[in-house]
Amino acid sequence: MRPLLLHLDHFGSFREPVTVDFTDTEYFALVGPTGAGKSTIIDAICFALYGTVPRWGREGAVAHALAPSVSAGKVAMVFESNGRRYGVVRAMVRDAKGAVRTKEARLDELDPAAPPAFDAVVKPLAEGENVTIEAQQVTGLEYRFFTQCVVLPQGRFAEFLHAAPRERQDLLVQLLDADVYERIRQRAAREEETAKQAASFARDQLAKLSGATEDAERELAERLAALRRLAETIGADLDLLRAREADIRRAEQERAAVAERQSVLAQLRMPAAVPTLASARRAAAESVGTLTAEVAALEADEHEAFEALAALGDRGAPRAALAALDHRDRLRAETARARAAAASAAASLEGLAGELATAEQVLAAAEDQRERLRDAHAAAHLVGRLAVGEPCPVCRHPISQLPRHEPPADMRTADRVLAGARERAQRARAAHAKAEASASMSATQAARLESELAALPAPGDRADLEARLAAIAKADELATQARSAVRAARGRLEDARAAAEQVERQAETAWRTLESARDRLLVSGTQDDPPPPLVREDLHRAWTELLGWRDRAAESARAALAARDEELAQAGERLAGDRRRLAERLAEHGVVAPRDGSPDQLGAAVAGTVARAESALDRLKEDRKRAADLESQVSMKEHEAKVAHELALRLRANAFERWLCAEALAVLVASASETLRELSDGQYELALSDKTGDIEVIDYGEAGMRRSARTLSGGETFQAALALALALSGAVARGLDSIFLDEGFGTLDPATLDTVATTLERLAAGQERMIGVVTHVPALAERVPVRFEVRRDAKGSHVRKAEVG
Ligand SMILES: Nc1ncnc2c1ncn2[C@@H]1O[C@H](COP(=O)(O)OP(=O)(O)OP(=O)(O)O)[C@@H](O)[C@H]1O
Ligand SMILES: [Mg+2]
Repeated sequence: MRPLLLHLDHFGSFREPVTVDFTDTEYFALVGPTGAGKSTIIDAICFALYGTVPRWGREGAVAHALAPSVSAGKVAMVFESNGRRYGVVRAMVRDAKGAVRTKEARLDELDPAAPPAFDAVVKPLAEGENVTIEAQQVTGLEYRFFTQCVVLPQGRFAEFLHAAPRERQDLLVQLLDADVYERIRQRAAREEETAKQAASFARDQLAKLSGATEDAERELAERLAALRRLAETIGADLDLLRAREADIRRAEQERAAVAERQSVLAQLRMPAAVPTLASARRAAAESVGTLTAEVAALEADEHEAFEALAALGDRGAPRAALAALDHRDRLRAETARARAAAASAAASLEGLAGELATAEQVLAAAEDQRERLRDAHAAAHLVGRLAVGEPCPVCRHPISQLPRHEPPADMRTADRVLAGARERAQRARAAHAKAEASASMSATQAARLESELAALPAPGDRADLEARLAAIAKADELATQARSAVRAARGRLEDARAAAEQVERQAETAWRTLESARDRLLVSGTQDDPPPPLVREDLHRAWTELLGWRDRAAESARAALAARDEELAQAGERLAGDRRRLAERLAEHGVVAPRDGSPDQLGAAVAGTVARAESALDRLKEDRKRAADLESQVSMKEHEAKVAHELALRLRANAFERWLCAEALAVLVASASETLRELSDGQYELALSDKTGDIEVIDYGEAGMRRSARTLSGGETFQAALALALALSGAVARGLDSIFLDEGFGTLDPATLDTVATTLERLAAGQERMIGVVTHVPALAERVPVRFEVRRDAKGSHVRKAEVG
């Protein structure tokens, strides 16, 4: 890993964005006063790659990336590693609660041909949390080892020197990629297992093919040849079977025809009505004749009765004469009643007139009485207003003395009396008027009825009229009876005719049945003995002749059927014999055919057996080929498993890896020892303890005695650590193409410092790795060709490149 551009913006003490350009720089120093920000620049390199910094202690904590007063910041770096160029960016923000978190983290591969710039992206490699993992892949180092052999942080540069042997081994495994051998061993073990399984599987498959031998193939080929010969010759046998079967079919058809004729003959039956049909026809004809004569006689009687009725004339005239007689009687009675009413009304009038006169008199007296009382009241009232000497308002004479009046009777009593007299007079007037009107009306009605009676024609004799009506009713009854007798006789005649027609239809049906039965017999029968001809005269005789012929024909059909059965039995035996012989031949060749199979089925069974034998032979050949393949597979897989087993054995239990690391450590310590001897002016060398595996110093100032490296002074520790760091990046690990040393130089005396400076200059001159130092010591700083001056003011830290000629 070699940085080209480092950009800081609000990281640690840097408050303004700054980009430090390391291009074409091999050896540089970061110089400046205490607290200026030198270590912060080294921190930024570490933070850009791993997202943390050794002095923060806890890995993964980004809280210290931002100064407490800052809310956002960023670190970015362009760097090269193993010949490729990368850009890494990490941006942080402080949230509302004051916690710092990573807002953006990205690692991209950059174009190595372009001038170093953050935006020359060729391919994005990782984002977010994956950036650290990817950075580890790119640098080839975990964070804990990066801070031991690339960045030697201020105050912690002796970590590798003091590290436990196990920790050192881990670092070397990583630097040397030595864990590849363990991975190879594991893979070899897996491959051994896979090869063994494959071999076992192939053996199982092979066992299943044990029947696929050369003998089996030869046997199968011979059987197939025999089957093919059978298939070629079997055609003639099958044709013979087909001819036998055709014979049987023909015989069966003939037998069926005879059986059919027998069934037609057996079905022939004379209809049950035929024997009595002739006498029934005669009886029906007689019955029709008798009834026809009866109807004619009754019709003559009916005619006579209606003639007699007509001669008696209409019922109208006698009925009208009887009604006129009834009318005259009613008028007479009414006239008598009217006369009586008129006389009674006239008699009551006299009494009513007297009552009326009395009522009128009473009324006049009551009116007069009331007038007088009214005057008395007026006079009594007037007296009150009279004065003596004043003229009297009635007589006009001067009043000499005032008259005395008794108080008159009550006026209301006089009014009630008058009203009662008026009502009674009114009622008497009304009763009188009503009696007058009634008397006049009854007299008028009586006069009208009398004149009506006088105008009526002369009346007939009632007994005579009633005798005529009775005679007509009698004649009418007789005529009605004659008519219903005719109707009943006609009904019986209809029934007799219908019965006669039904007998006719029966006879016709029986003829037709006979004809169609004869037709069927004609069709199914033999030509040399046809049924007798049909004469349409006597139905019963015709049926009897046909049945006689039927009995003879049935006899000859029975004989014919027996002959056909005999023929069929012989043909069946012949077929069975041929079939049996063929089946035996097929069985000899192992052909499985259905019992009683048809010739086509037998032929198909032979063809099928040939086809199966052919494919069985093909399969066997195929199996033999597969078995050969499997055999070679088994031996190949067994060989592979053996090779993998050997390899895993050689690499087992990390033995190889341990050996490799021990060798590397020996080389490393030897190389560091040489550098330390130079730096310490021949006083110290380094060696590994045989017992503990720790790094020890050999002190030639003490007769080459060994002691723990932890007993060295501060300056000596720095020399030893520097020697180891240089050896690590130089002698052992490829790819460690930079080293950054943060302080420690202040512990050296001028002579040692000079040696260290010379050593560093020599290393830098090789141009194989970039060397960066942080120092306060002017004597060293002045000897470094590129210096970055770091200072700090109120606006934070600043950095400036000061080239020295
Ligand atoms: N996370 C931080 N936030 C803000 N300031 C910080 C942070 N870390 C360190 N500082 C301060 O930034 C300044 C620079 O520190 P740095 O360690 O870079 O100084 P230096 O130049 O290496 O000094 P020295 O020569 O003493 O080693 C110091 O004042 C330090 O206290
Ligand atoms: Mg510092």
